[in-house]
Amino acid sequence: GGEEDLEVRPPVVTVMGHVDHGKTKLLDAIRKTNVVAGEAGGITQAIGAYQVSTEVDGDERKITFIDTPGHEAFTAMRARGAKSTDIAVLVVAADDGVMPQTIEALNHAQAADVPIVVAVNKIDREGADPTKVRGQLTEYGLVPEEYGGDTMFVDVSAISGVGIDSLLEAVILTADAALDLRANPEMDGQGVAIEAHLDKGRGPVATVLVQRGTLHVGDSIVAGTGYGRVRALLDDHGENVDEAPPSFPVQVLGLTAVPGAGDSFIVVEDDRMARQIAERRASRLRMAAQAAGTR
Ligand code: GTP
Ligand code: NA
Ligand code: MG
Repeated sequence: GGEEDLEVRPPVVTVMGHVDHGKTKLLDAIRKTNVVAGEAGGITQAIGAYQVSTEVDGDERKITFIDTPGHEAFTAMRARGAKSTDIAVLVVAADDGVMPQTIEALNHAQAADVPIVVAVNKIDREGADPTKVRGQLTEYGLVPEEYGGDTMFVDVSAISGVGIDSLLEAVILTADAALDLRANPEMDGQGVAIEAHLDKGRGPVATVLVQRGTLHVGDSIVAGTGYGRVRALLDDHGENVDEAPPSFPVQVLGLTAVPGAGDSFIVVEDDRMARQIAERRASRLRMAAQAAGTR
């Protein structure tokens, strides 16, 4: 696999911002779904990941979105060195303006050296003041292009759908201008778990983001201290797929244990090797825990 095997992969975008500023609703508008309506108390509990297509300059382009319940998960993944995000979309409600978690999200993205696109949301609301948001963020070093800076600000309403296409275009333009997003789809799959849980009927279910190579049904994998042969892969509509290429978010069934958010996964030669690696990891963790306990 040399340089010539690299193919453009979709940007992976994390949607961040203050609580209730419309991160999930914005993704609903982008996907034409209604995830918000199904959330307990309207609060996002777990990370969701979705891939959408959009047309930019006559080309069909894909974007992978990760919805966060806050910024904790993003930080955890960054701390583990898994740079899972290419671009951050910072959602700011135009009526509320910049709030504490807006600044925290901004700080995390800047610390990770991730380019930011600002979605100024809820512009349909009375009291919405998109100009004020631009002024506030300029004070934190996020200067809008129209003020001579290099950050794209897009006014949107997740309720009416205004500005959604412009936001997707801004993401693609930012990716093309600032990033070189290529990966070799022929390699063995590897990536990161972004959410995982134990399902009563299906056992451990992990949502993973493939970062390099392609993950296939039947592959032997290690994810955290879990391992196993991939029994099924489900896309973001819950449909079975045979494989997941770079930047594709997919649910993996067939693991023996639930990996942690931010754990990396790799494809290995066979089940035996997967088990060996997972057991070595588990015993290393046990030893570290014992050492911590006797200190
Ligand atoms: P958390 O995940 O809990 O942090 O919230 P969130 O940022 O995902 O916000 P969410 O999408 O749950 O939206 C919060 C509320 O704002 C919901 O009642 C949405 O319907 C509403 N909302 C989101 N976007 C808009 C918008 O553009 N206009 C108006 N009027 N309301 C919006
Ligand atoms: Na909410
Ligand atoms: Mg949400």
